[in-house]
Amino acid sequence: MAPPLPALVLIVVVAIPLSAAAVVFPTEALPTKSGYLPISPANASLFFAFYEATQPLTAPTSAPLLLWLQGGPGCSGLIGNFFELGPYFVSPDSVSLSRNPFAWNRRFGLLFIDSPLGTGFSAAPSPADIPTNQSVIAAHILAALQSFLALDPSFRARPFFLTGESYAGKYVPAAGAHILDVNPTLPEALRVNLHGVAIGNGLTHPVAQVATHADAAYFSGLINARQKRELEALQAEAVALTRAERWREAADARGRVLSRLQNMTGLATLYDAAKQRPYRTDPVGAFLNRPEAKAALGARGDVAWEECSDAVGAAMHADVMRSVVPQVESLLRRTRVLLYQGVRDLRDGVVSTEAWLGEVRWDGLPAFLDADRAVWRTRDGDLAGYVQRSGALSHVVVYGAGHLVPADNGRAAQEMIEDWVLQAGPFGRRGCVVAAA
Ligand SMILES: *[C@@H]1O[C@H](CO)[C@@H](O)[C@H](O)[C@H]1NC(C)=O
Ligand SMILES: *[C@@H]1O[C@H](CO)[C@@H](O)[C@H](O)[C@H]1NC(C)=O
Ligand SMILES: *[C@@H]1O[C@H](CO)[C@@H](O)[C@H](O)[C@H]1NC(C)=O
Repeated sequence: MAPPLPALVLIVVVAIPLSAAAVVFPTEALPTKSGYLPISPANASLFFAFYEATQPLTAPTSAPLLLWLQGGPGCSGLIGNFFELGPYFVSPDSVSLSRNPFAWNRRFGLLFIDSPLGTGFSAAPSPADIPTNQSVIAAHILAALQSFLALDPSFRARPFFLTGESYAGKYVPAAGAHILDVNPTLPEALRVNLHGVAIGNGLTHPVAQVATHADAAYFSGLINARQKRELEALQAEAVALTRAERWREAADARGRVLSRLQNMTGLATLYDAAKQRPYRTDPVGAFLNRPEAKAALGARGDVAWEECSDAVGAAMHADVMRSVVPQVESLLRRTRVLLYQGVRDLRDGVVSTEAWLGEVRWDGLPAFLDADRAVWRTRDGDLAGYVQRSGALSHVVVYGAGHLVPADNGRAAQEMIEDWVLQAGPFGRRGCVVAAA
């Protein structure tokens, strides 16, 4: 069912001057496998790109596998691939690629999927096929994953981790809980070997999160007390509409909070209070829409790649203010959970996560809340942030980063994900925080 591997169509590897239109796609930047994964329930398929581990600690056939899901809703996983954590990034010239020294496929096999259907290169057969809720998305992710795991006999036994950022704060819990619910009903040979989930700057429990923007901005010195009161009134509307389950109006009300905050602060982006310009992802689109890039990736030539799909955003509008905390609770009882946030994010940042974390119904919560928040340093001795952990739950604050943590502080993000997956360093089984060096 998988399309031919892109190795058959690869473009070569010469340094082509900027003026030339041809895309420079070095062989070593090509995915190990890519193309489309059938999702049987929808008679459709999701685009994927998979990169095998380059320096695994064990044989590659037993190295952990990570799936990365992008946010939005409706933003392509290829932003993660080519701007945040994949082995190569699109350069600002939009025709060449440069190696990412902090790629997440150093120790692990790394899979990107364009989900939900309608996102990135995953064109929906018709607009009506675009999912409108988390249960459909979770079922599609599991179906795509089953198609992926069938591609190589070694894949299924490898420890599997679900990761993602922002709106994936919904997808990761929904898909993770769905996988663990379905596993016992499957023959052993078809189970997914889920070992944990990681969420970066997630939107997970919006009714609590939307109520934190005024405080976060005020106590950062970005707004004054009168502006804080004005924002609090807007937040209260969003909360009331959410409690009334008027989902679309609630999502609109949240939008008003964020645009008012944007207006008051004059920030280039609420995703990172320290940036003078928004994240520069435009070159990724210019690159991916070149025919040579689509051919090299095994993507459909007739699909125009968009960073974020308005059609998916519209289909998911009534989902925005819905919570997936029950799914997080169910995961905490059965597997490991990592929540991490870049400290400079004013949309889905640290305070926004702390706001709901204290409310989860989980036996381990009192011990977690009582645990130390340890200073965390990179192996070079730089401040990387803070780690608080107890039992199944780890909460990491990443210093020097906004919303797109791996793009802003690649070194810390790589050390975090490697150590958390491997239960080493600050995530070691004995729980000691490793000092510098
Ligand atoms: C499934 O999709 C294919 C290709 O788009 C189409 O030809 C076929 O009719 C579809 N089958 C069903 C049952 O919808
Ligand atoms: C999700 O959407 C599907 C398809 O529209 C629908 O059948 C299902 O009832 C929805 N589920 C929930 C929980 O809303
Ligand atoms: C905020 O909104 C007002 C009224 O629409 C507008 O005049 C002003 O330029 C905006 N300020 C910023 C920084 O966007």
